[in-house]
Amino acid sequence: MKGARLHNLQGVDVRIPLGTLTAVTGVSGSGKSTLVHDVLFRQLESRLTGAHGAKQHLGEPVGEVRTLDGWEAISDVVLVDQARSGARRARTHHVHQGIRRAARPLRAERWPARG
Ligand SMILES: Nc1ncnc2c1ncn2[C@@H]1O[C@H](COP(=O)(O)OP(=O)(O)OP(=O)(O)O)[C@@H](O)[C@H]1O
Ligand SMILES: [Mg+2]
Repeated sequence: MKGARLHNLQGVDVRIPLGTLTAVTGVSGSGKSTLVHDVLFRQLESRLTGAHGAKQHLGEPVGEVRTLDGWEAISDVVLVDQARSGARRARTHHVHQGIRRAARPLRAERWPARG
């Protein structure tokens, strides 16, 4: 993704490898949520589901990018956020459980239990 722009991000370039579990870290206010949620997720959603216009219309922040490469290799994009209210609650819980289950072998591989 090149030229990500919204809030405090002024033309940020990032390379996120496909087929990996990637974490974005940084101090509070550095723009992680803006980058991942408001720019990357929205841009993928726009390309994969065409939801962009509606979201923007509803006043959701939608960041700009100059270019986004590699999105054609992705079949779906799902946002799992920290919101734990209303109808999304049960679904979010199941998604979290699924992610934890999928990540277990990765953790075991990286940090084997000490005997
Ligand atoms: N809706 C918004 N309108 C205007 N500015 C915003 C909005 N959301 C975030 N910002 C600003 O953009 C910058 C980055 O915020 P962001 O929430 O992306 O940071 P973060 O790295 O996710 O922080 P945290 O670790 O606290 O979640 C901050 O200066 C914040 O005040
Ligand atoms: Mg955040």
